[in-house]
Amino acid sequence: AVERTLSIIKPDAVAKNVIGKIYSRFESNGLKVVGAKMLHLSQELAEGFYAEHKERPFFGDLVAFMTSGPVVVSVLEGENAVAAHRDLMGATNPKEAAAGTIRADFAESIDENAVHGSDSAASAAREISYFFKDEEVCPRTR
Ligand code: CMP
Repeated sequence: AVERTLSIIKPDAVAKNVIGKIYSRFESNGLKVVGAKMLHLSQELAEGFYAEHKERPFFGDLVAFMTSGPVVVSVLEGENAVAAHRDLMGATNPKEAAAGTIRADFAESIDENAVHGSDSAASAAREISYFFKDEEVCPRTR
């Protein structure tokens, strides 16, 4: 089924100037950008986004990293978008990510791993509405 997922190009990848290379992978693999914005996340916005990880030992470092520079937040639409996007990203730890995935090619460490993607349809719905108003998502009619 056609789904939507939330994608974040993280501060390390924005700093490397590979926004276009990452978008190109989405576009060449059947995912369409239907929402997009560049943001420099505040502490509050980053903490709220990652609230499910609040008790994890890496939470403080994660929030510090995600607020260290601008990010590009996008809504991607396509057939099985959640899984398709996760396949393109590769494993959370770039050292375990399959060759040719975004994390294998652009990320250095589990902390600075270039991209985030929703892990389920339910989290996609929550994450999309966290960053986008309804009218900021633009369905493609052609
Ligand atoms: P992301 O998909 O953005 O979700 C939470 C992030 O925490 C994850 O990517 C990693 O960048 C980061 N992280 C750091 N350490 C860990 C860990 N041990 N397990 C999972 N995520 C981690």
